[in-house]
Amino acid sequence: MKTYDDLAGDGGSNIVGQVQALGEKLRSRLDRIKHKIALMSGKGGVGKSSLTANVAACLVDRGHTVGILDADLNGPSICHLLGLTHTQKLVIDENGVQPGTGAHGIKLMSMDMLLSSPDSPIMWTDEPEANATWVSTMESTALRELIADTQWGDLDFLLIDMPPGSDRIDNIRGLIPELAGVVEITIPSPLSQHIVTKSITKNNKMKVPIIGLVENMAGYTCPHCDKEGPLFEGEDVHELAMKKNIPYLGKIPFDPRIGQRTDSGSLYYMEHKGSVTGKAIGSVVDQILKAI
Ligand SMILES: Nc1ncnc2c1ncn2[C@@H]1O[C@H](COP(=O)(O)OP(=O)(O)O)[C@@H](O)[C@H]1O
Ligand SMILES: [Mg+2]
Repeated sequence: MKTYDDLAGDGGSNIVGQVQALGEKLRSRLDRIKHKIALMSGKGGVGKSSLTANVAACLVDRGHTVGILDADLNGPSICHLLGLTHTQKLVIDENGVQPGTGAHGIKLMSMDMLLSSPDSPIMWTDEPEANATWVSTMESTALRELIADTQWGDLDFLLIDMPPGSDRIDNIRGLIPELAGVVEITIPSPLSQHIVTKSITKNNKMKVPIIGLVENMAGYTCPHCDKEGPLFEGEDVHELAMKKNIPYLGKIPFDPRIGQRTDSGSLYYMEHKGSVTGKAIGSVVDQILKAI
């Protein structure tokens, strides 16, 4: 990534030209992707990454080509979920970076692929007093470069796995002008609903199109008998969707197998599409396809 110290020549004075050139580069990188969808929540730990990976698997199962952009720079999960290891080297040529290929042929690009080892955290500086504005600018720049430099090629879908928080979507929207919309995810707990409400309110105000709201970990499905029971106490998520005037895309029951990795590297959806939770993921995908 270039920093201020790397500026050469005119010192970056042709700002308008640079912005236009970057806009064109972003457009040309993304113009062979039919649908771009971000999965977000505001809240962490509600299943954004797990659902992104399994929605991708379901789309592949239906014959679509899919890529995932891991926009969670500080807690990247997609390489792990799709079984991409650090031994797979990035291929870079004069046209940019080739995305990685994970389980089921899903293309992916993640900050994880750029770090030196699987345990390395992302550190923009080793200066303890680094200013927050500077760190935020570095994060925005990294995200922009992940998008601008990746050769996604032809894809039916690009899913964007968002970090927790409601602010990064502004950045993503600026970088992906033809975003089809966002899928909001919550679990039934009052705290999660409280936070997702803020994210929905903000997106409505900023005119970010919302495809709908998914209720994850809604009840527990016994892996042995497929019977359901409650898991979190909370208000009806369907009512929240109605109150905020957005579509309710369905509920996905808790299934501990979602977090388990298979030896073959296959994703939960591919292995268990006939289970209650597998069918629920399929039904959410139906709703998303209908909405776009
Ligand atoms: N429907 C589900 N059933 C069981 N576990 C789930 C489900 N959805 C997510 N999880 C688990 O919850 C944890 C958090 O999920 P993750 O996708 O990392 O959330 P986020 O990306 O929102 O932080 C993970 O351990 C994941 O395996
Ligand atoms: Mg995540």
